[in-house]
Amino acid sequence: MIVLGIESSCDETGVALYDTGRGLLGHAVHTQVAMHEAYGGVVPELASRDHIRRLIPLLERVLAEGRCARRDIDAIAYTAGPGLAGALLVGASFAESLALALDVPVLPVHHLEGHLLSPLLANDAPAFPFIALLVSGGHTQLMRVARVGDYELLGESLDDAAGEAFDKTAKLLGLGYPGGPALAKLAESGAPGRFKLPRPMLASGDLSFSFSGLKTAVLTAVRARELSDADRADLAAEFQEAATEVLSAKAVAACRQSRLSSLVVAGGVGANRRLRERLDRDMAKIGGRVFYPALDLCTDNGAMIAFAGSQRLLQGTAPNRGGAFAVHPRWPLDELR
Ligand code: KG4
Ligand code: ZN
Repeated sequence: MIVLGIESSCDETGVALYDTGRGLLGHAVHTQVAMHEAYGGVVPELASRDHIRRLIPLLERVLAEGRCARRDIDAIAYTAGPGLAGALLVGASFAESLALALDVPVLPVHHLEGHLLSPLLANDAPAFPFIALLVSGGHTQLMRVARVGDYELLGESLDDAAGEAFDKTAKLLGLGYPGGPALAKLAESGAPGRFKLPRPMLASGDLSFSFSGLKTAVLTAVRARELSDADRADLAAEFQEAATEVLSAKAVAACRQSRLSSLVVAGGVGANRRLRERLDRDMAKIGGRVFYPALDLCTDNGAMIAFAGSQRLLQGTAPNRGGAFAVHPRWPLDELR
């Protein structure tokens, strides 16, 4: 079964073809970073309009890459939420109309379910059950994944998401959007420990996170005096150290509590090198292992949506019928069944 996946929840247009027999046939992403850069963040209306421009060329590209024709598509999956309402509607209406035209089933997919299952696209995939650490621009969650569709929320951020904290801290340090990768790069030339930042909720005894205090502590340091370039690099390094220390400690605690040894990391912050180093080291200490999606599948993409859709269809989730559909800008993952 060949499933076309469409992702348009935020500032990336992703299109991919996943074959349940042969794997990923084609995958293409257009990122709007350059367009939103001038505004310091995502402008929703511009995002929606750009998704409209990109979808058909991206579809043609993945069809060519996968040596497929439109009639080879057996089903379509698209991100129905959470995300920006207008941006979601572009992908949803495109996917639903194409499904009507091709007369194939169409399935709305939860964006985070896509991220969560993306490490299963790798050759060396974890077996169920596992713990998933979801770290994106909008979410920081620890979930117990028993199988496709069975997700138990163990803990999440009480305020800012990890990616949001990276982005806001980057802004405070005068870095551009998107802040996460820029901050990680600056941190490479700095050293942690010279500035002292808190490790929020490290000893809280539960699996909750909080990142807004960390960002405020950076603000205090920035306001205290004029920072040199070396200071900014050291502050970035200390921020990255603090954030990744807490993320890793809680992920390991979740595995211990659930007596599971496989940890899956998904979402944009999962691309962070320091986080990966720490998680690998900390999980090895408890005899566990960490599974990551390929780097290009960490951030938003259509492949994870095509894959999640295919798993849902194989499992018997009923597709949409009759051309009626809705998007869900807010959609808690544990509401999924
Ligand atoms: O999953 P994603 O692409 O989009 C959402 O669904 O949110 O995640 C984007 C987030 C942004 O906050 C971005 O700054 C962060 O992931 N990010 C990183 C890195 N690469 C992306 N944060 C830290 N280090 C990175 N290398
Ligand atoms: Zn995402």
